[in-house]
Amino acid sequence: MSNVFPSSHPLVAHKVTLLRDIATEPKKFRGLIREISALLIYEATADLLVQSKNVQTPLDIAQGAELVEKFGLVPILRAGLGMVEGIWELMPSAEVWHIGLYRDERTLKPVEYYNKLPIEPTVSVCIILDPMLATGGSAVATVDILKRWGVKKIKYVGIIGAPEGIKLMQQNHPEVPIHLAAIDNHLNEHGYIIPGLGDAGDRQFGTG
Ligand code: PRP
Ligand code: URA
Repeated sequence: MSNVFPSSHPLVAHKVTLLRDIATEPKKFRGLIREISALLIYEATADLLVQSKNVQTPLDIAQGAELVEKFGLVPILRAGLGMVEGIWELMPSAEVWHIGLYRDERTLKPVEYYNKLPIEPTVSVCIILDPMLATGGSAVATVDILKRWGVKKIKYVGIIGAPEGIKLMQQNHPEVPIHLAAIDNHLNEHGYIIPGLGDAGDRQFGTG
């Protein structure tokens, strides 16, 4: 599991517990998704490239650093949308490219319904955002899309992952790091993560 990074941060553990709670209503749920996403992106971006940059302070010159890569955040609709805001606060110059996928309820396979990526890639690093890595079909399909687009560096940031989804990603895209707040036990017969948190899209948007 060398490319899988479950967070061990106490704040993340505390907030994921609140997120899972059936009593957490959509407004609070959205706030927690935003906060957890910001904490996870802090961990997921620890290896980003920087170049040195000097800056004039009121008193002297300080040796500093600036990021050199161009980033794209890639939320998978719908549930990934809620992860953008907290991350954008920290990475305001990141481009956001939406990918629309839904899981067919019968086959559990992803169906693509929205993709407006231009022909040439405009970023060098893409960070896929989706709270739930269940069968892994949506994550694998999104990495496929981004690789076809020509992006070389891809990361996945989710909140809860199932062993089944992690395995599928590792089989198909072993070089993509997977950052998660928690790894759960298994999927049920409907492809839901157990214990999980239910349907992440419905709980954010008050549907279902
Ligand atoms: C959920 C979730 C992922 C997908 C994960 O989306 O947000 O995109 O399921 O499942 P997988 O790993 O088995 O592919 P869903 O299809 O429910 O769509 P929604 O976000 O629009 O509710
Ligand atoms: N999608 C969700 O929203 N929840 C799950 O448990 C699995 C897929």
